Amino acid sequence: MTATDIRVRSVRLDDVIPDVERVIIEPIIEDIEGLKRERNAVVLAHNYMTPDIFYGAADLRGDSLQLARMAAETDADVIVLAGVHFMAETAKIANPDKTVLIPDPAAGCSLAESITAADVRLLRERYPGVPVVTYVNTSAAVKAESDICCTSSNAVAVVESLGTERVIFLPDRYLGRWVASQTDVGVILWHGACEVHERFTGEELRGYRASYPDIRIIAHPECPPDVLDEADFVGSTSGMIDWVHAEAPRQVVMVTECSMASNVAAEAPATRFVRPCNLCPHMKRITLEKIRDSLVNMHHEVIVEPTIAARARAAVDRMLAVGASR
Ligand code: 13P
Ligand code: SF4
Repeated sequence: MTATDIRVRSVRLDDVIPDVERVIIEPIIEDIEGLKRERNAVVLAHNYMTPDIFYGAADLRGDSLQLARMAAETDADVIVLAGVHFMAETAKIANPDKTVLIPDPAAGCSLAESITAADVRLLRERYPGVPVVTYVNTSAAVKAESDICCTSSNAVAVVESLGTERVIFLPDRYLGRWVASQTDVGVILWHGACEVHERFTGEELRGYRASYPDIRIIAHPECPPDVLDEADFVGSTSGMIDWVHAEAPRQVVMVTECSMASNVAAEAPATRFVRPCNLCPHMKRITLEKIRDSLVNMHHEVIVEPTIAARARAAVDRMLAVGASR
């Protein structure tokens, strides 16, 4: 059980959802609970899920690395991944014999869309012998062409674990630049970007500092460099949550997808959250109703072709062996 799981038990649904909405969602949550028992299913939810899912339906919550670990460790027969498609694929790669469902198969990711397996093969030809480190925000086919995966919480540790002078880092150019700023290892970049985080600007953050003089700024490393330069802390989604609990700032802005602030605010009532609202349209495709329907119909099963899954799994397992460093 993670620090996040222990904390969320003290947050009740009526702390985060107004009465009028609770009347509507509680029967759906009851259905989901019954279906979970019937199917021996577990709901894993990413930190960007809305509070009704995060506090109402999820059994386990976390960032991409935590979700990958939880998926690898669960005893459930069915995993419902309340997150985007690459997260569900990673859960399937870790559990080829389990049923993995995604409530909406159209929940994609601009980073995963930015690169193909053929692109990785061309990069290998261009930089012979240079290992390929691939962010988990990619398809299984891209992972299968990679030496090792990483997430935003362990990217520096993964890059340094290889013991090489250079790595090819795919596909997020901003995360890659941030990694390069934290290590002596040379980083060859691809041109991908997160459509949500690339919209933040340093100017916007300087505006927050001017308006709220004691504000603390914490940012996800998918943000552009001028944003990260303004930040007091840079880390994964769970790294940011843990930072708020450890530092207990009076005011904070979390420079990331905005649903997360609603979840963290419920656990940190003494902190005022200034909220720029950049939503991830892919994450927001996941709803309580779709979680229920996926369990009723056992539909939107994630299938990964076995030879691709085996090669992708090797890259994911190498990452899991390295561990986290926020
Ligand atoms: P985390 O691994 O930090 O949760 O990030 C996943 C993601 O998609 C952020 O946009
Ligand atoms: Fe992908 Fe960005 Fe959405 Fe995360 S926030 S899932 S990186 S598009």
